[in-house]
Amino acid sequence: MIVLSEATAQTEPSASASDIKLMTEAAKLLGCKVYYIPQNFERCGTAENALWHVPQFAQETAGIWVGYIPEFQRYVAIYQAALAKGIKLLNTPLEHQTALEFDLFYPKLRGLTPDSVVITSTNECIEASELLEFPVFVKGAIQSQKIQGWDSCVANNLEELLRLTEDLLKFKAGSRGRVIVRKLVKLRHQRLAPNGFPMGREFRCFIYHQQLLKYGYYWDGQDDLKQLTKLEENQVLNLAILASQRLQVPYVAIDIGQLETGEWIVIETADAQFAGLSQIPALELWSKLKDIC
Ligand SMILES: Nc1ncnc2c1ncn2[C@@H]1O[C@H](COP(=O)(O)OP(=O)(O)O)[C@@H](O)[C@H]1O
Ligand SMILES: [Mg+2]
Repeated sequence: MIVLSEATAQTEPSASASDIKLMTEAAKLLGCKVYYIPQNFERCGTAENALWHVPQFAQETAGIWVGYIPEFQRYVAIYQAALAKGIKLLNTPLEHQTALEFDLFYPKLRGLTPDSVVITSTNECIEASELLEFPVFVKGAIQSQKIQGWDSCVANNLEELLRLTEDLLKFKAGSRGRVIVRKLVKLRHQRLAPNGFPMGREFRCFIYHQQLLKYGYYWDGQDDLKQLTKLEENQVLNLAILASQRLQVPYVAIDIGQLETGEWIVIETADAQFAGLSQIPALELWSKLKDIC
């Protein structure tokens, strides 16, 4: 298996940078061939140049990209340049986009995840608020603004929904022009993040072709809610597998959360190539990946 890694020593420290580094090191330890690629096309200009040092493979070989969530066009360009070298990334561009962009995966996951409405302008806020009652959870098609706290994700009235919609449309990397208004659910939790965000009882599951590779508690740190009973573990993993069957994306990360009622729901999905590790040890995930691919 070939790894295209964006790990570099010069990156600002962040959770993503640290996970990318850990996964790259794990891949190397396990004997995968790692080729480093730049994080953007600023200096190299094209995807072909980004991969100039990667040899041509005579036999098509599976490839995994370990990096930051790319713009869609960047994914397409790297995917094609890698394919020209005989490396096939685990997800095609459409599969990548389906796992990552809310409005593409939501229709497939209806009923497993809170009801949601996709809007593209503030003009649609009234209609969205008529379909879902306040308070609502508001995020972009790719990401929420959870780093800025609960108030940046929850609207209690139309005025707040308009403001959050405006903010999210400006946050282009997180919304790509689409804002998601969701039924606000009560997630079971014991801890609040330093910014006041409730740290729901959530688990990230890495799945390859509808088979679980590894799962782990979503948030960092010690949490009494991290431990699952055997029954709960089955419920979490069955839901994650069901979601992956509906999605039909080969390599996917699925976040499952528990409501205060005890019921489990899908929070979101992602292209696992760009998903953080949560509490999963990199070496354990990558040894599973290596066995399977
Ligand atoms: N509908 C919702 N109601 C209540 N809390 C939610 C809802 N959706 C997500 N959350 C909480 O907000 C967090 C961030 O939302 P998420 O959709 O995962 O966005 P991001 O892509 O930024 O991680 C989740 O981990 C969960 O704790
Ligand atoms: Mg999330």
